[in-house]
Amino acid sequence: MKKLWTAFLFTALITSGCSSDAVKEDDKNKVVSAGEKPYNRSCAGCHGADLTGGAGPDISKVGGKSNEKEILKIIKDGKGMMPGDLLSDKDSKAVAKWLADKK
Ligand code: HEC
Repeated sequence: MKKLWTAFLFTALITSGCSSDAVKEDDKNKVVSAGEKPYNRSCAGCHGADLTGGAGPDISKVGGKSNEKEILKIIKDGKGMMPGDLLSDKDSKAVAKWLADKK
């Protein structure tokens, strides 16, 4: 479903040019927070810049599944193929808090 939506956005961009609503919609989802920067640096490579996954699973709704504490544990310890300890304590907390809001 996410892939379809992406394809739709992409098509909308091509067919309606630069001033399309799709761009505005995209900007709305980009709320800059303390957790976003370290995420982009250390996590986006596997989970995607938009959290919808890649080498790692889609975590765009991970807050509905795990709370901040559980996410922090995953960041610290890693999980399966995911390496732990990628971030400092401070950044780990900020990213966990940020992801816990993704529902
Ligand atoms: C090398 C690729 C890789 C990197 C880098 C990576 N992850 Fe992951 N991540 C994974 C994989 C693979 C899984 C699935 C693990 C499993 O369930 O076996 C995962 C699982 C997760 C989960 C649990 C998802 C769920 O549905 O329960 C969270 C949360 C998560 N990662 C957050 C992060 C954060 C935050 C970072 C940056 C600090 C990060 N990941 C960096 C590959 C990665």
